[in-house]
Amino acid sequence: MTNGQIPKKMRLGSNEDDFYQRLQQQRRSLPIHPARGRLIHEVQRHSSVIVIGETGSGKTTQIPQYLYEAGLHRNAVIAVTQPRRVAAITISKRVAQEKKTELGHLVGYCVRFEDVTTDSTKLKYMTDGMLLREAILDPLLKRYSVVILDEAHERTIHTDVLFGVVKAAQRQRAEQGLKHIKIVVMSATMDVDHFSKYFNNAPVLYLEGRQYPIQVFYSVEHQTDYMFASLVTLFQIHKKEPAQKDVLIFLTGQEEIESAVKSIRDIAKEITGAPNLVVYPLYSSLPSFAQMRVFQPTPEGCRKVVVATNIAETSVTIQGIKFVIDSGMVKAKVYNPNSGLDLLKVVRVAKDQALQRTGRAGREAPGICYRLYTEDEFETFSNTTVPEIQRCNLASVVLQLLAMHITDVAAFDFMDKPSPEAVKKALEQLELLSAVEKRERYKLTPLGRQMAAFPLDPRLSKVILTAKDFQCLEEILTIVSVLSVDSVLFTPPNKQWCHENFIDMRNMKTAQEVRRQLKEICERQELPIQSCGRDTVPIRKCLAAGFFMSAAELQREGEYVTLSTRKVVSIHPSSVLFRCKPGYVLYNELTQTSKCYMRDLCVIDAEWLYDTAPNYFRNKKPGR
Ligand code: CDP
Ligand code: MG
Repeated sequence: MTNGQIPKKMRLGSNEDDFYQRLQQQRRSLPIHPARGRLIHEVQRHSSVIVIGETGSGKTTQIPQYLYEAGLHRNAVIAVTQPRRVAAITISKRVAQEKKTELGHLVGYCVRFEDVTTDSTKLKYMTDGMLLREAILDPLLKRYSVVILDEAHERTIHTDVLFGVVKAAQRQRAEQGLKHIKIVVMSATMDVDHFSKYFNNAPVLYLEGRQYPIQVFYSVEHQTDYMFASLVTLFQIHKKEPAQKDVLIFLTGQEEIESAVKSIRDIAKEITGAPNLVVYPLYSSLPSFAQMRVFQPTPEGCRKVVVATNIAETSVTIQGIKFVIDSGMVKAKVYNPNSGLDLLKVVRVAKDQALQRTGRAGREAPGICYRLYTEDEFETFSNTTVPEIQRCNLASVVLQLLAMHITDVAAFDFMDKPSPEAVKKALEQLELLSAVEKRERYKLTPLGRQMAAFPLDPRLSKVILTAKDFQCLEEILTIVSVLSVDSVLFTPPNKQWCHENFIDMRNMKTAQEVRRQLKEICERQELPIQSCGRDTVPIRKCLAAGFFMSAAELQREGEYVTLSTRKVVSIHPSSVLFRCKPGYVLYNELTQTSKCYMRDLCVIDAEWLYDTAPNYFRNKKPGR
């Protein structure tokens, strides 16, 4: 102090204060701010309220805070559900900063295999899947005073089921004279009448948006390679536009995005006389520190390029975007009604998704959107996306509904009902897995009840529960954990132990954490955790018990066909089995690209299939 310098600690303090003041200033300047009073008033007066406002207007970060500040939490918890874990994590971090608290105290988040909340948490950002799991143990959701269902237009399978569950909790709490629960449904875009009617004619609050004009350019002709087209478009923009005008590219999935990011970085090195490019990927399974980078302001003299999945459509806001390049594609689960299994497939977006993507270019100033499809093609897009519940395998959801004692699934109060055939197929699958049995109605077996305790696909929980008969739960836990995270294998750019061994450290650590939690559930269920040593037969038999519906048989021509529907499939080139071609395999996932590929494989014997599911294979004849 004697030399007139301010001690470091004080300086830091005042920086923090500045930062906090800036955040408060930003909060006040959001489009939602003028509607604060009206919003609180509506939520006080009505049991359900629908809120519509442009992406970035402040719905997700501010509304929970407003309700909290107005005392609407009534000492209970305000839940904010998100279809995506990324959004739950990044937004809760932001809100914790705005509230000047450490994450996990007043503000926390809860996603599968990761719970960052404490008893003092009042604003809880969570995935819709997590709230659904909580509802199994507590269908009246007694811990919550307000449930905010965010991104309602996404209509994921969990959101749709949650709509019905939360609505039922509201009614039952009223009937039983318990404290009421408020429902707030939010989105940037939705079929308002449909939603309002479903939520007992809930009033709709429209927030004034801020949207600048956007010029839209279509491709002149059909693009056969949208990834290549997106790179060409990007570098056309890059060569002529000044720095600081950032670009957002919509592609479909992790591999594609990582490969685009790499190409962009490589090409950028060759270009002279243009601003520096900073390139970031953005997709759900990206670790949160990497996601957070996307939100940082672009360095002086640079251009930021974000290559994202549909996550950047409405659930997160990236600042500085001036140009949007829309591939017009999205990766979606597509249901195969014959096999009853889902297939991950790259498909066309719906018109409303294309509009949201375009909108991302005009948040702060007029912008430009390049659509990598022709105007005629755009006209053929469907208006809205079909709710996932009408196009996905329902086995997992039906199992959860049964665990909540909702026995007549077909009569459940869905906003849009799944087809009766899909429900029937799901029940049949669960019956084949011995999770349900049919008396007058379908009902959970003791095994099914145990299966519902795992936050996993029913096939995987069946595998875990079968492991005790084969004394190999140690190994099975490891396998299931690795199957539950993104690939632990990876191509090494530089030298460290993990890199040299082609291991993605982050995903490996996540797998360890998943394993720890699954082990805990097993211990609670008093399952003996034993190892089968070096013999892999028990492990593979165990996998067959869960995955017999995903088996394929080698044909003379060297291709495989699935036993469920005789669909022609191939082993993915990244598999060690690519060249060996065993007679029978199980697969975890089918991906449709140039061919239909099986991923995550296991070699099995045909007899094991008979042994584990004789009824299923009676007419399917593997090995004959
Ligand atoms: O939910 P909605 O799309 O209406 O907006 P939001 O997610 O609440 O975001 C409101 C504003 O907060 C955005 O415009 C961003 O500028 C800012 N924000 C941010 O800077 N960093 C975050 N991690 C989240 C939001
Ligand atoms: Mg939002």
